[in-house]
Amino acid sequence: MILSAASWVPFSCLFASAWAHTFNLTSTSITHTSSSSSPTHILADTKAVSSTPSPSSSLKSDSSSPSPSSTSASLSPSSTPMPSSSPTKPGVKNSKRGIAFASNGNTDDIINANQTKSVISWIYNWADLPPAYIAESNLKFIPMQWGSGSINQFASAISAQGADTILTYNEPDFVNEANIAAKDAAALWMQFIQPLKQQGLRIGGPAVTAAPTGKAWLTEFLTECNKCSIDFLPLHWYGSGVEGFYSYLGDMHATFPQFPIWITEYADTSDNKTDVWNFMNQTINYLDSLDWVERYSWFGFFRPEDKVNYNMLDDDGSLNDLGKLYIGANTIHTSPRNNQTGPQYQTISPSDQPGQPLVTSWPKANGATTATSQWIQVSSALWLLILSIAITLY
Ligand SMILES: *[C@@H]1O[C@H](CO)[C@@H](O)[C@H](O)[C@H]1NC(C)=O
Ligand SMILES: *[C@@H]1O[C@H](CO)[C@@H](O)[C@H](O)[C@H]1NC(C)=O
Ligand SMILES: *[C@@H]1O[C@H](CO)[C@@H](O)[C@H](O)[C@H]1NC(C)=O
Ligand SMILES: *[C@@H]1O[C@H](CO)[C@@H](O)[C@H](O)[C@H]1NC(C)=O
Ligand SMILES: *[C@@H]1O[C@H](CO)[C@@H](O)[C@H](O)[C@H]1NC(C)=O
Repeated sequence: MILSAASWVPFSCLFASAWAHTFNLTSTSITHTSSSSSPTHILADTKAVSSTPSPSSSLKSDSSSPSPSSTSASLSPSSTPMPSSSPTKPGVKNSKRGIAFASNGNTDDIINANQTKSVISWIYNWADLPPAYIAESNLKFIPMQWGSGSINQFASAISAQGADTILTYNEPDFVNEANIAAKDAAALWMQFIQPLKQQGLRIGGPAVTAAPTGKAWLTEFLTECNKCSIDFLPLHWYGSGVEGFYSYLGDMHATFPQFPIWITEYADTSDNKTDVWNFMNQTINYLDSLDWVERYSWFGFFRPEDKVNYNMLDDDGSLNDLGKLYIGANTIHTSPRNNQTGPQYQTISPSDQPGQPLVTSWPKANGATTATSQWIQVSSALWLLILSIAITLY
């Protein structure tokens, strides 16, 4: 996915034009189309640091996660989903279900996700520290070390918010995302991530793409980092139809059975909204039923973007049909769309173009066709951040 980084701040961004949207990549990207005239500065690995760490008292306990030892489940991907084992009644939190939400200026969109009747229990925004609207939301924030940037500051970000669970590298196998060689990622892990284990943190492994490069990268990383303590494995997937998703999940589980799995980005990229809704309806029930899946977060919680049918919000921030299903509640808040920002979430899946070349063979961002990413830090005592990207396929 994409997204590159993920949070971003409205005025920041840049991004080049010529955005050719095609579905040959494997990720999602959030791009800004603002007409900034300044030269673009690619900082895909740079993280912004929020100045508003959340009080540790606002973090919910994380007692619902299955232990790694329970991962021997034998449910095959093709087995019939069992009845949901997690609550979906209004107000009863679903310990697995979270939202991937990097506000694009409409920070109050979070109100429909953290309302009393919402079943959402956790949130992440691809950043290491929560901006104020998340820190104060009562949703458990899971910090992420997105790439190699500012990795030396991650430990302090963790202790500042009292986190007990963390995520690491976002799509390190993808040139437009964290883009780190497995060997380098392993060395950085041993230096900066592994020491956190002594504090009792639960640590998520790198979240690779579902492109062929993903599994290969992860396999190499696990060999290079055989002393790394990985407690669970986050995955991303974009495509159409539950069969492809279940097949990927089943394959990754069979290949890496030692890890419980989180699906930290996934969506059905079909043009047909009914199909997307049905996909969500089936998959959330399926994921709830699997004891080796600890958590999942649909991509994503954002307002309409061009050519996207998997967003959960309408133009005024209200929950659309997907949003109501996922959040388990109705809209309680709306607001005018922030027109200054205009980021776009782009999801590109190999499932749409089975014949695509490997991700790593694609042109870099500074090639003829442009992709840009930038994380920006916004100061003002509030928050920060991020990035953006642009991809181009040819
Ligand atoms: C939801 O988040 C907003 C913004 O952080 C906060 O003001 C509000 O109290 C939260 N509501 C609940 C029910 O946690
Ligand atoms: C969308 O999918 C539904 C369910 O598969 C189908 O009934 C409907 O005809 C489709 N709509 C279009 C425009 O293809
Ligand atoms: C949604 O999924 C549930 C659980 O699998 C199922 O009972 C229900 O029929 C589905 N709804 C629709 C409209 O398909
Ligand atoms: C954004 O633009 C729309 C359409 O022009 C307008 O209705 C809306 O009020 C604007 N929102 C803000 C916050 O200015
Ligand atoms: C996407 O993949 C299709 C099928 O492999 C190919 O025909 C098309 O040229 C590709 N588009 C881009 C932009 O690479």
